[in-house]
Amino acid sequence: MRKRKFGPLSGEVPVIGIGTWKMEHDDSKAAIAAIRRAIDDGMTHVDTAEMYGSGQVETMVGEAIAGLRDELFLVSKVLPRNATYEGTLAACEASLKRLRTDRLDLYLLHWREKLPLFETFRAFEQLRAQGKIRAWGVSNFDDNDLADALGEVGSGKIACNQVLYHLKDRTIEHRVIPWCEKHGVAVVGYSPFGSGDFPKAKALDDVAKRLGATPRQVALQFLTRSASVFAIPKSANSAHVNELAGADLLELDDNAIAAIEAAFPLAPWHGLSSI
Ligand SMILES: NC(=O)c1ccc[n+]([C@@H]2O[C@H](COP(=O)([O-])OP(=O)(O)OC[C@H]3O[C@@H](n4cnc5c(N)ncnc54)[C@H](OP(=O)(O)O)[C@@H]3O)[C@@H](O)[C@H]2O)c1
Repeated sequence: MRKRKFGPLSGEVPVIGIGTWKMEHDDSKAAIAAIRRAIDDGMTHVDTAEMYGSGQVETMVGEAIAGLRDELFLVSKVLPRNATYEGTLAACEASLKRLRTDRLDLYLLHWREKLPLFETFRAFEQLRAQGKIRAWGVSNFDDNDLADALGEVGSGKIACNQVLYHLKDRTIEHRVIPWCEKHGVAVVGYSPFGSGDFPKAKALDDVAKRLGATPRQVALQFLTRSASVFAIPKSANSAHVNELAGADLLELDDNAIAAIEAAFPLAPWHGLSSI
C-alpha cells in the first residue's frame, strides 16, 4: 500500500485506510474480519470514534487489532460535548480501554461546537506529553475554523483535518485543501463513497474499464490525487476490502482525471459540508 507524509508527522501513513462508522449494525464477526483483512492488505490507518455505536465500535476495533497494534496508525475522536480539558482526558482514557491499547497515533476533535478550542487542545497536548497520543488534529473544520485553531497553537501542532470528500462533494478543494497544504496539515477525506450512495456514471465505468479497475478503485485514486490527501472508506465485508486495497495498483492518467472532473464537477463554494 502506498504511503505518504502525514502533515507534520515523521514517518508515512497509508494513503487508503479503513473507516468504521456504523459498524455496530454490521455482523460483528464479519466486520472484525474485514478490519483484519484491511490491516493485512496494508490499510493500516484505522479510523474510529467514541461516538460510533456509543463505544461499541471501538470495542469491535479493539478485538480486530489485538496483536497488531504496532502495525497501525490508530485514530479516534472525542465528541465536542466531552471536549473540555478534563472531559477530553477522560474520553481518551475510555477510548484506550475499549481499544485495548495504551496509545493512539492520532486523536481528533470530531467537530467544533461552542467550547473554546484552547481547552481541548491543552488536553491534547497533555495526552501527547503523557505518551497516550502521538499526535492530534481536528475534523469538519473549514478554513476559518482552521485559522482559529492555528491561532491557538501555532504551526506544526495540528496533524490533520478530517473532512467530507467524495465525487459528488468536492467542496474541500475550494479552501480546505489549499489551506491545509499551505500550513502542512494532512487532509483525511471521509465518506469517499458518499456513505453508501456511490454514484453510477458512465464516465466512471469507462475509466474503470479502460484501466482494468473498478469504479470504486477509480474514485479512491481520484480523491487521493493530491499529495496531502488520504481516504478512509468503510467496509465490513472482506471481499469489498480486497477491492479497496486493490486501488493501490491503479494509476490514473491525465485523461482519466479529466474525465472524472468533468463528470463530477466542483460545485461553487457554499461552505463546508459534513455528514
Ligand atoms: N469525521 C467525521 O465526522 C466522519 C463522518 C463520516 C465518516 N467518517 C469516517 O469515514 C469513514 C468512511 O465513511 P462512511 O462510513 O460514511 O462511508 P463510505 O466509506 O463513503 O461508504 C461506506 C459504504 O460503502 C460500502 N462499500 C465499501 N466498499 C465497497 C465495495 N467494494 N463494494 C460495495 N460496497 C462497498 C460499505 O458497505 P460494506 O460495509 O457492506 O462494504 C458502506 O455501505 C467512516 O466509516 C468513518 O470512519 C468520519
